[in-house]
Amino acid sequence: MVDFFNSKELLIDGISKLKSSKIPNPEIDARILLSYASNYQNTIYMHNDISISKKDKNKFYCFLDIRIQGKPVSRILGSRNFWKSNFLINKYTLDPRPDSEVIIDVLTKNFCNSGKHFQVLDLGSGSGCIGLSLIDEIKNTSLLSVDICKQSLEILNKNAHRLNLMNKLHCAQINWFENTWIENIKIITQKEKLFSKNKFDIIVCNPPYIKSSDIEKLQTEVKNYDPLVSLDGGIDGCDSYRAIFRDLRELLTIDGVCFFEIGYDLLDNIKIILKEFNLNLIKVHKDFYGHSRVIEIN
Ligand SMILES: C[S@@+](CC[C@H](N)C(=O)[O-])C[C@H]1O[C@@H](n2cnc3c(N)ncnc32)[C@H](O)[C@@H]1O
Repeated sequence: MVDFFNSKELLIDGISKLKSSKIPNPEIDARILLSYASNYQNTIYMHNDISISKKDKNKFYCFLDIRIQGKPVSRILGSRNFWKSNFLINKYTLDPRPDSEVIIDVLTKNFCNSGKHFQVLDLGSGSGCIGLSLIDEIKNTSLLSVDICKQSLEILNKNAHRLNLMNKLHCAQINWFENTWIENIKIITQKEKLFSKNKFDIIVCNPPYIKSSDIEKLQTEVKNYDPLVSLDGGIDGCDSYRAIFRDLRELLTIDGVCFFEIGYDLLDNIKIILKEFNLNLIKVHKDFYGHSRVIEIN
Protein backbone atom coordinates (compact mmCIF):
# COMPACT_ATOMS: atom_id res chain seq x y z
CA MET A 1 0.00 0.00 0.00
CA VAL A 2 1.38 3.47 -0.92
CA ASP A 3 1.39 5.81 2.08
CA PHE A 4 3.18 8.75 0.52
CA PHE A 5 2.61 10.61 -2.73
CA ASN A 6 4.86 12.83 -4.77
CA SER A 7 3.92 16.54 -4.70
CA LYS A 8 4.66 17.04 -8.40
CA GLU A 9 2.32 14.24 -9.47
CA LEU A 10 -0.44 15.56 -7.21
CA LEU A 11 0.02 19.07 -8.58
CA ILE A 12 -0.18 17.88 -12.19
CA ASP A 13 -3.39 16.00 -11.43
CA GLY A 14 -4.86 18.89 -9.41
CA ILE A 15 -4.09 21.46 -12.12
CA SER A 16 -5.69 19.27 -14.75
CA LYS A 17 -8.86 18.84 -12.65
CA LEU A 18 -9.15 22.62 -12.07
CA LYS A 19 -8.40 23.36 -15.73
CA SER A 20 -11.06 20.98 -17.02
CA SER A 21 -13.58 22.69 -14.68
CA LYS A 22 -12.54 26.06 -16.18
CA ILE A 23 -11.23 27.45 -12.88
CA PRO A 24 -9.06 30.53 -13.60
CA ASN A 25 -5.41 30.34 -12.46
CA PRO A 26 -5.40 26.55 -11.93
CA GLU A 27 -1.62 26.38 -11.32
CA ILE A 28 -1.64 28.95 -8.52
CA ASP A 29 -4.78 27.53 -6.89
CA ALA A 30 -3.46 23.94 -6.96
CA ARG A 31 -0.12 24.99 -5.46
CA ILE A 32 -1.75 26.98 -2.65
CA LEU A 33 -4.28 24.25 -1.86
CA LEU A 34 -1.63 21.50 -1.77
CA SER A 35 0.55 23.63 0.54
CA TYR A 36 -2.45 24.27 2.81
CA ALA A 37 -3.55 20.61 2.82
CA SER A 38 -0.06 19.47 3.80
CA ASN A 39 0.62 22.32 6.26
CA TYR A 40 3.68 23.28 4.25
CA GLN A 41 4.90 26.74 5.27
CA ASN A 42 5.80 27.96 1.78
CA THR A 43 3.97 27.49 -1.50
CA ILE A 44 4.77 24.13 -3.10
CA TYR A 45 6.13 24.48 -6.65
CA MET A 46 6.43 21.90 -9.43
CA HIS A 47 10.18 21.58 -8.89
CA ASN A 48 9.77 20.78 -5.18
CA ASP A 49 9.95 17.08 -4.53
CA ILE A 50 7.93 16.64 -1.37
CA SER A 51 6.33 13.50 0.05
CA ILE A 52 2.67 14.05 0.85
CA SER A 53 0.90 11.71 3.28
CA LYS A 54 -2.26 9.88 2.27
CA LYS A 55 -4.28 11.96 4.75
CA ASP A 56 -2.98 15.23 3.28
CA LYS A 57 -3.50 13.96 -0.27
CA ASN A 58 -7.16 13.27 0.60
CA LYS A 59 -7.47 16.75 2.08
CA PHE A 60 -6.00 18.20 -1.13
CA TYR A 61 -8.58 16.40 -3.29
CA CYS A 62 -11.36 17.52 -0.98
CA PHE A 63 -10.19 21.17 -1.33
CA LEU A 64 -10.03 20.76 -5.12
CA ASP A 65 -13.67 19.61 -5.15
CA ILE A 66 -14.74 22.57 -3.03
CA ARG A 67 -12.81 24.93 -5.33
CA ILE A 68 -14.45 23.38 -8.39
CA GLN A 69 -17.85 24.04 -6.80
CA GLY A 70 -16.94 27.76 -6.83
CA LYS A 71 -15.56 28.53 -3.36
CA PRO A 72 -12.59 30.94 -3.68
CA VAL A 73 -9.20 29.76 -2.40
CA SER A 74 -9.15 32.54 0.21
CA ARG A 75 -12.48 31.29 1.64
CA ILE A 76 -11.11 27.73 1.83
CA LEU A 77 -8.01 28.99 3.63
CA GLY A 78 -9.95 31.50 5.76
CA SER A 79 -7.41 34.20 5.00
CA ARG A 80 -6.09 36.46 2.25
CA ASN A 81 -2.83 38.32 1.68
CA PHE A 82 -3.33 42.08 1.39
CA TRP A 83 -0.59 44.70 1.10
CA LYS A 84 2.14 43.29 3.38
CA SER A 85 0.13 41.06 5.72
CA ASN A 86 -2.15 38.08 5.87
CA PHE A 87 -5.73 38.84 7.00
CA LEU A 88 -8.19 36.37 8.48
CA ILE A 89 -11.61 36.52 6.86
CA ASN A 90 -14.97 34.95 7.70
CA LYS A 91 -18.34 34.73 5.98
CA TYR A 92 -19.25 38.20 7.28
CA THR A 93 -16.23 39.98 5.78
CA LEU A 94 -15.49 40.98 2.22
CA ASP A 95 -12.57 39.09 0.72
CA PRO A 96 -9.94 41.90 0.54
CA ARG A 97 -9.19 42.95 -3.05
CA PRO A 98 -5.89 44.14 -4.56
CA ASP A 99 -7.80 47.22 -5.91
CA SER A 100 -8.11 48.50 -2.34
CA GLU A 101 -4.30 48.54 -1.98
CA VAL A 102 -4.36 51.75 -4.08
CA ILE A 103 -5.50 53.63 -0.94
CA ILE A 104 -2.54 52.33 1.08
CA ASP A 105 -0.15 52.98 -1.77
CA VAL A 106 -1.15 56.65 -2.09
CA LEU A 107 -1.35 57.32 1.65
CA THR A 108 1.98 55.74 2.58
CA LYS A 109 3.74 57.80 -0.10
CA ASN A 110 2.26 61.02 1.31
CA PHE A 111 2.14 60.46 5.07
CA CYS A 112 4.82 57.97 6.08
CA ASN A 113 7.69 60.34 6.81
CA SER A 114 5.85 63.33 8.23
CA GLY A 115 6.51 62.49 11.90
CA LYS A 116 3.11 64.00 12.84
CA HIS A 117 0.49 62.01 14.77
CA PHE A 118 -2.53 61.08 12.64
CA GLN A 119 -5.98 60.09 13.77
CA VAL A 120 -7.45 57.67 11.23
CA LEU A 121 -11.05 56.58 10.69
CA ASP A 122 -11.84 53.45 8.65
CA LEU A 123 -15.50 53.40 7.63
CA GLY A 124 -16.83 49.92 6.79
CA SER A 125 -13.68 48.22 8.00
CA GLY A 126 -14.53 44.57 7.19
CA SER A 127 -11.48 42.39 7.92
CA GLY A 128 -9.57 45.56 8.76
CA CYS A 129 -7.27 45.19 5.77
CA ILE A 130 -7.23 48.90 4.84
CA GLY A 131 -7.11 50.57 8.26
CA LEU A 132 -4.74 48.07 9.87
CA SER A 133 -2.35 48.09 6.89
CA LEU A 134 -2.28 51.87 7.14
CA ILE A 135 -1.48 52.11 10.85
CA ASP A 136 1.10 49.38 10.41
CA GLU A 137 2.82 51.54 7.77
CA ILE A 138 2.32 54.99 9.31
CA LYS A 139 3.75 54.50 12.77
CA ASN A 140 2.43 57.53 14.65
CA THR A 141 -1.30 56.85 14.31
CA SER A 142 -4.44 55.84 16.15
CA LEU A 143 -7.32 54.14 14.37
CA LEU A 144 -11.07 54.01 14.82
CA SER A 145 -12.53 51.18 12.72
CA VAL A 146 -16.30 51.03 12.34
CA ASP A 147 -18.62 48.58 10.65
CA ILE A 148 -22.30 47.71 10.77
CA CYS A 149 -21.43 44.06 11.22
CA LYS A 150 -20.42 42.80 14.69
CA GLN A 151 -18.92 39.56 13.39
CA SER A 152 -16.60 41.40 11.02
CA LEU A 153 -15.40 43.56 13.94
CA GLU A 154 -14.51 40.33 15.76
CA ILE A 155 -12.31 39.22 12.86
CA LEU A 156 -10.80 42.71 12.66
CA ASN A 157 -9.80 42.40 16.33
CA LYS A 158 -8.14 39.04 15.67
CA ASN A 159 -6.23 40.57 12.76
CA ALA A 160 -5.12 43.48 14.93
CA HIS A 161 -3.83 40.97 17.52
CA ARG A 162 -1.91 39.06 14.87
CA LEU A 163 -0.32 42.28 13.63
CA ASN A 164 0.36 43.52 17.15
CA LEU A 165 -1.68 46.68 16.56
CA MET A 166 -4.23 46.43 19.40
CA ASN A 167 -2.70 49.39 21.24
CA LYS A 168 -3.48 51.72 18.32
CA LEU A 169 -7.02 50.51 17.61
CA HIS A 170 -10.55 51.06 18.82
CA CYS A 171 -13.47 49.58 16.94
CA ALA A 172 -17.22 50.08 17.12
CA GLN A 173 -20.45 48.93 15.54
CA ILE A 174 -21.84 51.91 13.63
CA ASN A 175 -24.47 52.20 10.88
CA TRP A 176 -23.98 55.24 8.64
CA PHE A 177 -27.64 55.12 7.62
CA GLU A 178 -28.64 56.06 11.18
CA ASN A 179 -29.07 59.78 11.92
CA THR A 180 -26.89 59.58 15.02
CA TRP A 181 -23.84 57.91 13.43
CA ILE A 182 -21.62 61.03 13.42
CA GLU A 183 -22.62 61.86 16.98
CA ASN A 184 -21.84 58.29 18.07
CA ILE A 185 -18.37 58.50 16.58
CA LYS A 186 -17.76 61.80 18.38
CA ILE A 187 -18.82 60.26 21.68
CA ILE A 188 -16.26 57.49 21.16
CA THR A 189 -13.47 59.97 20.44
CA GLN A 190 -14.35 61.87 23.62
CA LYS A 191 -14.37 58.74 25.79
CA GLU A 192 -11.36 56.88 24.41
CA LYS A 193 -7.87 57.95 25.51
CA LEU A 194 -6.50 56.82 22.15
CA PHE A 195 -8.02 59.91 20.56
CA SER A 196 -6.96 63.45 21.42
CA LYS A 197 -9.54 65.24 19.21
CA ASN A 198 -12.98 64.46 17.86
CA LYS A 199 -12.04 64.87 14.19
CA PHE A 200 -9.85 62.76 11.93
CA ASP A 201 -6.81 63.61 9.84
CA ILE A 202 -7.33 60.68 7.51
CA ILE A 203 -10.63 58.97 6.66
CA VAL A 204 -10.61 55.85 4.50
CA CYS A 205 -13.61 53.98 3.20
CA ASN A 206 -14.43 51.19 0.82
CA PRO A 207 -18.24 51.19 0.94
CA PRO A 208 -20.58 48.75 -0.81
CA TYR A 209 -20.90 50.15 -4.35
CA ILE A 210 -22.37 47.49 -6.65
CA LYS A 211 -25.69 48.48 -8.22
CA SER A 212 -28.42 46.21 -6.79
CA SER A 213 -29.41 45.07 -10.28
CA ASP A 214 -25.79 43.98 -11.02
CA ILE A 215 -25.46 41.68 -7.99
CA GLU A 216 -27.00 38.72 -9.86
CA LYS A 217 -24.48 39.18 -12.69
CA LEU A 218 -21.41 38.93 -10.42
CA GLN A 219 -19.07 35.91 -10.57
CA THR A 220 -20.14 32.95 -8.39
CA GLU A 221 -17.05 33.51 -6.23
CA VAL A 222 -18.30 37.00 -5.33
CA LYS A 223 -22.07 36.54 -5.41
CA ASN A 224 -22.11 33.39 -3.28
CA TYR A 225 -19.28 34.13 -0.87
CA ASP A 226 -18.96 37.88 -0.24
CA PRO A 227 -21.67 39.15 2.14
CA LEU A 228 -24.42 41.16 0.43
CA VAL A 229 -24.04 43.99 2.96
CA SER A 230 -20.48 44.53 1.71
CA LEU A 231 -21.52 44.65 -1.96
CA ASP A 232 -24.98 46.17 -2.43
CA GLY A 233 -24.79 49.93 -3.01
CA GLY A 234 -28.48 50.42 -3.84
CA ILE A 235 -30.15 51.28 -7.15
CA ASP A 236 -27.30 53.41 -8.55
CA GLY A 237 -24.51 51.97 -6.33
CA CYS A 238 -24.20 55.28 -4.47
CA ASP A 239 -26.43 54.90 -1.39
CA SER A 240 -23.52 54.69 1.05
CA TYR A 241 -21.63 57.62 -0.53
CA ARG A 242 -24.74 59.81 -0.17
CA ALA A 243 -25.23 58.81 3.49
CA ILE A 244 -21.57 59.31 4.41
CA PHE A 245 -20.87 62.50 2.42
CA ARG A 246 -23.84 64.34 3.91
CA ASP A 247 -22.05 65.25 7.17
CA LEU A 248 -18.55 63.98 6.50
CA ARG A 249 -17.01 67.41 7.11
CA GLU A 250 -18.00 67.18 10.76
CA LEU A 251 -15.53 64.32 11.16
CA LEU A 252 -12.64 65.86 9.22
CA THR A 253 -9.90 68.16 10.55
CA ILE A 254 -9.33 71.37 8.54
CA ASP A 255 -6.37 69.90 6.67
CA GLY A 256 -7.74 66.35 6.78
CA VAL A 257 -8.22 64.15 3.71
CA CYS A 258 -10.53 61.30 2.80
CA PHE A 259 -9.87 58.42 0.46
CA PHE A 260 -12.89 56.54 -0.87
CA GLU A 261 -12.79 53.52 -3.12
CA ILE A 262 -15.34 53.81 -5.95
CA GLY A 263 -16.81 51.51 -8.57
CA TYR A 264 -14.93 52.22 -11.82
CA ASP A 265 -18.13 53.42 -13.55
CA LEU A 266 -19.41 55.62 -10.71
CA LEU A 267 -17.15 58.66 -10.97
CA ASP A 268 -19.59 60.94 -12.83
CA ASN A 269 -22.39 60.19 -10.38
CA ILE A 270 -20.12 60.65 -7.40
CA LYS A 271 -18.93 64.05 -8.65
CA ILE A 272 -22.55 65.23 -8.52
CA ILE A 273 -23.01 63.93 -4.96
CA LEU A 274 -19.75 65.59 -3.84
CA LYS A 275 -20.99 68.90 -5.21
CA GLU A 276 -24.33 68.49 -3.46
CA PHE A 277 -22.57 68.14 -0.11
CA ASN A 278 -19.90 70.80 -0.73
CA LEU A 279 -16.97 68.42 -0.79
CA ASN A 280 -13.94 68.96 -3.02
CA LEU A 281 -12.54 66.34 -5.34
CA ILE A 282 -8.76 66.72 -4.99
CA LYS A 283 -7.63 63.84 -7.16
CA VAL A 284 -8.76 60.60 -8.75
CA HIS A 285 -6.32 57.71 -8.34
CA LYS A 286 -6.28 54.86 -10.84
CA ASP A 287 -5.98 51.17 -10.04
CA PHE A 288 -3.47 48.78 -11.63
CA TYR A 289 -5.81 48.36 -14.63
CA GLY A 290 -6.12 52.12 -15.24
CA HIS A 291 -9.67 52.41 -13.82
CA SER A 292 -10.65 55.40 -11.66
CA ARG A 293 -10.62 53.57 -8.34
CA VAL A 294 -9.97 55.95 -5.44
CA ILE A 295 -11.15 59.52 -4.93
CA GLU A 296 -9.22 61.86 -2.66
CA ILE A 297 -11.58 64.46 -1.21
CA ASN A 298 -11.88 67.10 1.50
C1 LIG B 1 -16.84 46.74 0.40
S1 LIG B 1 -16.79 46.20 2.08
C2 LIG B 1 -15.18 46.79 2.55
C3 LIG B 1 -14.53 46.00 3.67
C4 LIG B 1 -13.07 46.34 3.89
N1 LIG B 1 -12.89 47.74 4.19
C5 LIG B 1 -12.26 45.96 2.66
O1 LIG B 1 -11.88 46.87 1.91
O2 LIG B 1 -12.04 44.76 2.44
C6 LIG B 1 -17.91 47.33 2.84
C7 LIG B 1 -17.99 47.24 4.35
O3 LIG B 1 -18.95 48.19 4.80
C8 LIG B 1 -19.76 47.62 5.80
N2 LIG B 1 -21.06 48.31 5.75
C9 LIG B 1 -22.06 48.15 4.86
N3 LIG B 1 -23.09 48.97 5.15
C10 LIG B 1 -22.73 49.67 6.25
C11 LIG B 1 -23.38 50.66 7.04
N4 LIG B 1 -24.60 51.08 6.74
N5 LIG B 1 -22.72 51.17 8.10
C12 LIG B 1 -21.48 50.73 8.42
N6 LIG B 1 -20.81 49.78 7.72
C13 LIG B 1 -21.43 49.26 6.64
C14 LIG B 1 -19.86 46.14 5.43
O4 LIG B 1 -20.20 45.36 6.54
C15 LIG B 1 -18.45 45.88 4.87
O5 LIG B 1 -17.58 45.44 5.87
